[in-house]
Amino acid sequence: MKRDPRLRGLSSEHHHALVLARTVTALVAAGRADDAANHLIDRFEHELEPHFRVEEALLLPALRGAGEVALVERTEADHASLRALALAARGGRRDGLVAFAERLTDHVRFEERELFPCCEARLPAAVLDAVGQRR
Ligand SMILES: [Fe+2]
Ligand SMILES: [Fe+2]
Repeated sequence: MKRDPRLRGLSSEHHHALVLARTVTALVAAGRADDAANHLIDRFEHELEPHFRVEEALLLPALRGAGEVALVERTEADHASLRALALAARGGRRDGLVAFAERLTDHVRFEERELFPCCEARLPAAVLDAVGQRR
């Protein structure tokens, strides 16, 4: 499947997110939960949170306007649970690290397989242009 060039920046960040999920899982499996948590907290703040904000500011309002409410609500629910798990890790919890990695992987797959194809099919060119020009 060929991604619209204007969504390729976000898609490449999805690749980084999958690598993050694998790294967190591997560190936990190696008994290095603190390292996993620190890595998660750092990448969440610098990569994932900004990525979520672009999706929430540009893609989701336009999709909602196009009537794609179920896809919008799934995305918002995923972002909320990932934020909650990252916050728990920041607060010292070490029991949600693998759940975070699993949910992040699942979320990326959902966006690549369902959300982004819908964006390509239904969003106005001006919205996709704005996503392509961010930063
Ligand atoms: Fe995303
Ligand atoms: Fe997302």
